[in-house]
Amino acid sequence: MSHVLAAVAWPYANGPRHIGHVSGFGVPSDVFSRYMRMAGHDVLMVSGTDEHGTPIQVQADAEGVTARELADRYNRVIVEDLRGLGLSYDLFTRTTTRNHYAVVQELFSGLHENGYIVAKTTLGAISPSTGRTLPDRYIEGTCPICGYASARGDQCDNCGNQLDPEQLVNPRSKINGEVPEFVETEHFFLDLPAFAEALGKWLDAREGWRPNVLKFSKNLLEDLQPRAITRDLEWGVPIPLEGWRDRTDKRIYVWFDAVIGYLSASIEWARRSGDPDAWRQWWQDADSRGYYFMGKDNIVFHSVIWPSLLLGYSGEGDKGGKPGSLGALNLPTEVVSSEYLTMEGRKFSSSRRVVIYVRDFLERYDADALRYFIAAAGPESNDTDFTWAEFVRRNNDELVAGWGNLVNRSISMAAKNFGAIPEALDLTDEDRALLEVSKAGFATVGELIGKHRQKAAIGEAMRVVAEANKYLSDQAPWKLKDEASKPRMGTVLHVALQVVSDANTLLTPFLPHSAQKVFELLGGTGVHAPMPSIEEVDDLDGGPAYPVLTGDYTVGAKWGPVELVAGTPLAAPKPVFRKLDPSVIEEELERLGS
Ligand code: MF3
Ligand code: ZN
Repeated sequence: MSHVLAAVAWPYANGPRHIGHVSGFGVPSDVFSRYMRMAGHDVLMVSGTDEHGTPIQVQADAEGVTARELADRYNRVIVEDLRGLGLSYDLFTRTTTRNHYAVVQELFSGLHENGYIVAKTTLGAISPSTGRTLPDRYIEGTCPICGYASARGDQCDNCGNQLDPEQLVNPRSKINGEVPEFVETEHFFLDLPAFAEALGKWLDAREGWRPNVLKFSKNLLEDLQPRAITRDLEWGVPIPLEGWRDRTDKRIYVWFDAVIGYLSASIEWARRSGDPDAWRQWWQDADSRGYYFMGKDNIVFHSVIWPSLLLGYSGEGDKGGKPGSLGALNLPTEVVSSEYLTMEGRKFSSSRRVVIYVRDFLERYDADALRYFIAAAGPESNDTDFTWAEFVRRNNDELVAGWGNLVNRSISMAAKNFGAIPEALDLTDEDRALLEVSKAGFATVGELIGKHRQKAAIGEAMRVVAEANKYLSDQAPWKLKDEASKPRMGTVLHVALQVVSDANTLLTPFLPHSAQKVFELLGGTGVHAPMPSIEEVDDLDGGPAYPVLTGDYTVGAKWGPVELVAGTPLAAPKPVFRKLDPSVIEEELERLGS
């Protein structure tokens, strides 16, 4: 038993999230957290909406609303979507809380005090026609490194290098095409080179990371430059230094504030729990572990920037220093990054309508059908394509015809012939062999989930299902109806139901909604798979109220077999999964833009 932090990437509140987003950070982190809780660990799963930054301001300007209004709108949409998916956050909050502002400013001040944040004069772009600053990512030009013609002012999507806008060849504004003017402006920089050695030591000690992620992270250490962590922007966390605090034109860079969300959300959770120091168990205990879940475009922020902030605040970079008032903080144990999901062979794109939003998906299909697809066929360690045909096939052939059918036929046969879970009499070798398969599944599936190999894990769970289906076909209990054979029929069905119960527990982290139903069909009462709920809460420090996602996950099934009790009444089951008509493939493809 130990403390496990599940730190889940914070979705931007600038629009609804699509299934590509939730396949990267959402479902994998929930499967992991649910399993770890079932296995007896103390899990703290935190995240929230990422609400600052230029894109939100630009989008708000375009719609004629304030950034705050835009963030309020999408914060709510996202909270509802994540609840619909059954993602079991202990706290899903937002970056516009006063608590978050205070924690961000505390880290900024601590880093500044230790000498890791330095002011520098740089060139900033302004729009000559309006005089307003032109955000880096709204400047386009040719990449000075690889020659790509549509590099952005903050990074080149072709070679992946971070850029400064004045490095671009032939820069132009993406908003109105004009050539930006570069003027001197003062900003704060994080001294990343001062962490190179400590980061290297930390990365060298990592075990079990996905090889791509570790290699990518180590490569990033080869060229560390001081990095600007403030912006010319009105929307964001104020800079907590004398002479800067009250300026309205400079704010902390969104990525600096967002990664600190993991800590601020843990603190918020602790404050709401009534034990304001409880967060320390996950952030300061030496044997606590922290797993960070995200898509691969987020790796640099989690394997370089965030660890650097933690090191600097703890006084552990080249310049030394002493821990800030919160105390020294733990570095991540693992950066669990997935690859990209594409949609019918193309990149997701809201503007080109190559997209399916979570909301629309959940209106037409069940959450567990999507969770199943993501776990079984998601972008765990390779870029993967979502196609409607494959979604329907997996749903119908695997979920409905494999698992659903096993549940359905074993429970209905037992209900019809015995009205209850029948007794198991003498077990044959076949009976024992099957029971062994499902019992052994707990070690195999659990270990795979613990190592973030969820595809293999759900494959193993489904192998138990397949074995049980084969067992039923072989034993053919429907042929054992006469008086003399009926006790044997009861034994076969008891064994089958026991394996249904075991397989259901193995599948619970992946398919929590249906797991609850199967549990109840087997006569279980109470909570098997706890669900998150939305609560409207007051800001702890006097800001506006907001919705959070939270839940009590101390209840529910434990990881391991539970022996069924013969005689437990059974009713005829309602189907747990819905078969999809293949016509939905055409319908959905028509909805996509071309
Ligand atoms: N908002 C970012 C994205 O959607 C993720 C932020 S993760 C955090 O890509 F570390 F900043 F929290
Ligand atoms: Zn480039």
